[in-house]
Amino acid sequence: MTKTWSPDTWRKLPALHLPAYPDAEALASVEEQLSTFPPLVFAGEARKLKDQLAQVAKGNGFLLQGGDCAESFAEHRADNIRDFFRVFLQMAVVLTYAAAVPVVKVGRIAGQFAKPRSSPTETIGGETLPSYLGDIINGIEFDEPSRVPDPQRMLRAYRQSAATLNLLRAFATGGYANLELVHQWMLGFVKDSPQGHKYREIADRISEALAFMRACGIDAQSVPQFRTTEFFTSHEALLLGFEQAMTRVDSTSGDWYDTSGHMIWIGDRTRQPDHAHVEFCRGIRNPVGLKCGPSLDPDGLMRLIDLLNPEDEAGRLTLICRFGAGKVGEHLPGLIRRVEKEGRTVVWSCDPMHGNTVKATTGFKTRPFDRVLQEVREFFQIHRAEGTHAGGIHIEMTGQNVTECTGGARAISDEQLSDRYHTHCDPRLNADQSIELAFIVADALKQERQDREPVKVAAIAE
Ligand code: PEP
Ligand code: CO
Repeated sequence: MTKTWSPDTWRKLPALHLPAYPDAEALASVEEQLSTFPPLVFAGEARKLKDQLAQVAKGNGFLLQGGDCAESFAEHRADNIRDFFRVFLQMAVVLTYAAAVPVVKVGRIAGQFAKPRSSPTETIGGETLPSYLGDIINGIEFDEPSRVPDPQRMLRAYRQSAATLNLLRAFATGGYANLELVHQWMLGFVKDSPQGHKYREIADRISEALAFMRACGIDAQSVPQFRTTEFFTSHEALLLGFEQAMTRVDSTSGDWYDTSGHMIWIGDRTRQPDHAHVEFCRGIRNPVGLKCGPSLDPDGLMRLIDLLNPEDEAGRLTLICRFGAGKVGEHLPGLIRRVEKEGRTVVWSCDPMHGNTVKATTGFKTRPFDRVLQEVREFFQIHRAEGTHAGGIHIEMTGQNVTECTGGARAISDEQLSDRYHTHCDPRLNADQSIELAFIVADALKQERQDREPVKVAAIAE
């Protein structure tokens, strides 16, 4: 028996990490305005993403999800969006080749503004203020007026998301995503990387594959798939008033869709089954992600699966696992076995960022690249052992050459973190670290294929 649902039923339930707006009338007026604004994405697009994720769940695809921890108003520039997209596409090419299945591309972008924080307050030099909650809620500047939640910020976030999406759509279909071009950028990365020799083999194989196809008359002129790509958007559905205002009935199906992004996810801190965030997400028909941290046990997971995907629709639910390096073996096998036993269909994805945040000796919040890699490797190993598909990765990254995560081929040290530490929230992989990660995941994907089709892959590898 399902309780009735409407876009506002969450309002009667307890909710964590929602801001206390001082002016309820101003808030209601903004939410009312938002509900009349055009949708940012279309229901049909969200359905298309769900179909693609359904293939991933069945082992015929791989999900690449990534972008900023928190988008900001200050960094809203065309070159930032372009550089992110460019790195993301390079990662996708490497992964597509290695996995030999379609890579589903989902950005943490065009709506990723609201942040749950570990502490409600922040203290600097003896002064304590409410924490920064993301540009859609309050300001990052450390002064009292900036930290007051301001509903007007939602309108600005909406407009920024619309402009970002507009540019992404143009990049995806207007020639920038041309496979030959992306491949050239990737070769440039391999040439310049101090660890480039490690990636040369895969890079050369992609070059050969493209040359072979060109010789057969398959190229950007003849095949549209070479010139364009499909790209989807996602964010954490944290600020429920905003999400509700963007939720509309799709005229073709009569179903509710949250039109603020193609996919939304529930954070690790707001996944209580009887609280507001789960209530809101269970009623919309978009693909939904669920962050799974160390405190989630198999019973808890099954309860959430029953709420979020009662009909076991393939592609509806992606489990984004974020346990921390060294801890995956403790948590993941139990969850996989239970889901398999119950015969439920999910995409298993790995977020190797949020369980690996540490404080550097210099005081910066950072993530050692080695720990990130280790968590990814553990995730793949466990799926191999269980015979299930390691279906995706979920990362915080930027196309800029920032110094926020230590390590990587250029061995960023604790001392170098201050050089270009720009994130508004958590430390992101920079452009080089992101592409390096793609090459390492590519290796793991190749091994998974080798298990599944040993003869064919061995022949290719000759
Ligand atoms: C995030 O993805 O930025 C985040 C806050 O993650 P989690 O909910 O897994 O902590
Ligand atoms: Co984050």
